[in-house]
Amino acid sequence: MTKARRILAESMPAQDVIVEVLDARMPAASANPVVTEIRKQKPCIKVLNKSDLADPVVTKAWLQHFEGSPSVVAIAVSANQPSDVKTRIPALCKRLALHPRGPGKTVRVMVVGIPNVGKSTLINTLMGRSVAKVGDEPAVTKSQQQVTLKDGMMLSDNPGILWPKIENEEIAYRLALGGAIPDTAMDYESVATFAARYFLRRYPQLLIARYKLKELPPAEDALLAEIGRRHGCLKSGGNVDLHKAADILLHAFRKGVLGRISLEAPP
Ligand code: G4P
Repeated sequence: MTKARRILAESMPAQDVIVEVLDARMPAASANPVVTEIRKQKPCIKVLNKSDLADPVVTKAWLQHFEGSPSVVAIAVSANQPSDVKTRIPALCKRLALHPRGPGKTVRVMVVGIPNVGKSTLINTLMGRSVAKVGDEPAVTKSQQQVTLKDGMMLSDNPGILWPKIENEEIAYRLALGGAIPDTAMDYESVATFAARYFLRRYPQLLIARYKLKELPPAEDALLAEIGRRHGCLKSGGNVDLHKAADILLHAFRKGVLGRISLEAPP
């Protein structure tokens, strides 16, 4: 984090606009406070990415929440709508840039964000071709890339890996559930137990629909066991393989097959 902070601080003065990519399912947990601290009043577009996976009502509330922040504009996008990304982000960058090098000059834009929020995908979409490596494991982007877009923008990504700042257990679980923390770094079954408890409380109808449940299991353990049984994840002796059930639930959430779910709402 110290190295990432140094690289960010060194790159910041040359930039006109910061594009901070966040996970729309958890815009607070996926924000690194170091970005806010170092950018100060530099114009910033908070891009709530993966909005196709997030609860639209909660995303709308997040956009309203950010409206009051000075020098910040927030938008919700998704990789499923590349034309939206390609038109809105460059237009906003040009609108927000303070033109320190004079009007008509190249607008310098830096893309920042914690691993797995979709920075590489976003850069590739803006470029219209594949320049940044997209991967399912956090922290695939490691070296700085700088590309000039045809409409007068220079885009760079931050080479320092901005690991998420984990302030409490709840945030750690959200980040792990969304895939920003590698699966090897946290106990898989605990993450699934957290997810099952949260989904039971906030999105029971999605669980009923997805797993064709006649009634809602009373607690997270029972839900995981039910998912395991329905997918035939049984160990010898007939006990449910909870690790496999955990895997099924986590992947269902990450791929959006449960439905559109947000992990946190604005304060
Ligand atoms: P990063 O540079 O910030 O680390 O993220 P990256 O672009 O590598 O994206 C991480 C994963 O998130 C990739 O999936 C990517 O496809 C997916 N992703 C990025 N943007 C969106 C979005 O708007 N919506 C959805 N649903 N997914 C998005 P992956 O696990 O590598 O799998 P896949 O691409 O093979 O499906």
